[in-house]
Amino acid sequence: MLLDDRVAIVTGAGRGIGREFALELARQGAAVVVNDLGVGLRGEASDEDPAASVCAEIAAFGGRAVPSHESVTDFEATGRCVQTALDAFGRLDILVNNAGIVRDRTLVKMTEDDFDAVVATHLKGAFNCTRHAVPVMKEAGYGRIVNVTSSAGLRGNFGQTNYGAAKAGIMGMTFVWALELARAGITVNAIAPAGATRMTAALAGDGAEPDPRLDPAMNAPLVAYLASEAAAHVNGQVFGRTDFSYTLFQHPKQIAWMHRDGGWDTESVAAEFDGMLGQHLQTVGMVMPKGLSQDAARS
Ligand SMILES: NC(=O)c1ccc[n+]([C@@H]2O[C@H](COP(=O)([O-])OP(=O)(O)OC[C@H]3O[C@@H](n4cnc5c(N)ncnc54)[C@H](O)[C@@H]3O)[C@@H](O)[C@H]2O)c1
Repeated sequence: MLLDDRVAIVTGAGRGIGREFALELARQGAAVVVNDLGVGLRGEASDEDPAASVCAEIAAFGGRAVPSHESVTDFEATGRCVQTALDAFGRLDILVNNAGIVRDRTLVKMTEDDFDAVVATHLKGAFNCTRHAVPVMKEAGYGRIVNVTSSAGLRGNFGQTNYGAAKAGIMGMTFVWALELARAGITVNAIAPAGATRMTAALAGDGAEPDPRLDPAMNAPLVAYLASEAAAHVNGQVFGRTDFSYTLFQHPKQIAWMHRDGGWDTESVAAEFDGMLGQHLQTVGMVMPKGLSQDAARS
C-alpha cells in the first residue's frame, strides 16, 4: 500500500471531505490522528464526537486511528495534536490542513467576529498545525503537507470575504512553505476540493438528488498520492477537482505588460491603459461545480 508505516494528522476529519481523507489514508496503510472539534458549520459548540466515529470506522476495516479533539484555532492545542501522533504512533509524516467553518455574508453585513472566526480556523489553524508538525518532520528529513484551499480564495466568490481571504492566504502559505521546506525533504501542496457536504448544502437547493460528481470521497485519492513518497517531485502546486477530473491551477503570474521608457505619469496611463493592459482584463469569480448553484443559496 502507498502509505504503509506512515503516520498522518488530518484536521477536521470527522465529517465531509476530511473524513474521506482520513479513511483513504488509513486504507493506504497510514495510522491516522483524526482531529475534529465536532463543531457546527459556523463553529458553534456541539455535543457530537465525529472524530471518535471516524476512528471506529477505520478500526472496523483493520486500520489504525486515534481521535484528537483539539481546536486548530488554539496554538498550544495543535501542539498537543502533534504530540498525540508521536505518543500513539511514534512519528509524523503527513499533515492535511482541512478543518473549516463558514460564515457567509456580504461585506457590509459581515461582523468582525465572522471575519475573525473563519480566518482563525482556516488560515491560522493551518499555520498552528504546520508550525508544530514541521520541526518533527525536519528532524526525520521527510514530510508531506497538503493544505485545503478553495476556488473562493483563488478566484473569488460572492459573500465570502472571510473565507476567500483565508483560502487565498492558504495558497500564499503553501508557496512559502514549499520554498522553505523542500531542502528538508518536505513537500507542501494545496487542493481546492469539491463535494456535497453540510458546507455546500445551501448551494444544492432543496430536495436535490445526490450527484455522483459531488461525492466528497473523490478528493481523497489525489491527497493520498500527494501524501506518499511517490509524489516527492510534486511541491508548491495547487490542485483542484471538478466533475471526475483533477486539475492543476496556474500560479498567479503576469500576463500582460505596458512599458514606457522612463516610466509612466498618470495622464499617459489614462491615455494608454485600454489599448495595452485593458485588452487583457479577466473575469473574476469561481466557476460553481455542476450540481451546485449560488442561486440556490440566495433563494
Ligand atoms: N465542500 C466543498 O465543496 C468544499 C469546497 C472547497 C473547499 N472546501 C474545504 O474543504 C474542507 C472541508 O470542508 P467540508 O465541506 O468537508 O466541511 P464540513 O463542515 O463537513 O467538515 C469540516 C470539519 O471541520 C471541523 N472543524 C471546524 N472547526 C474546527 C476546529 N477549530 N478544530 C478542529 N476541527 C474543526 C468540523 O467539526 C467539521 O467536522 C474545508 O477546509 C473547506 O473550506 C470544501
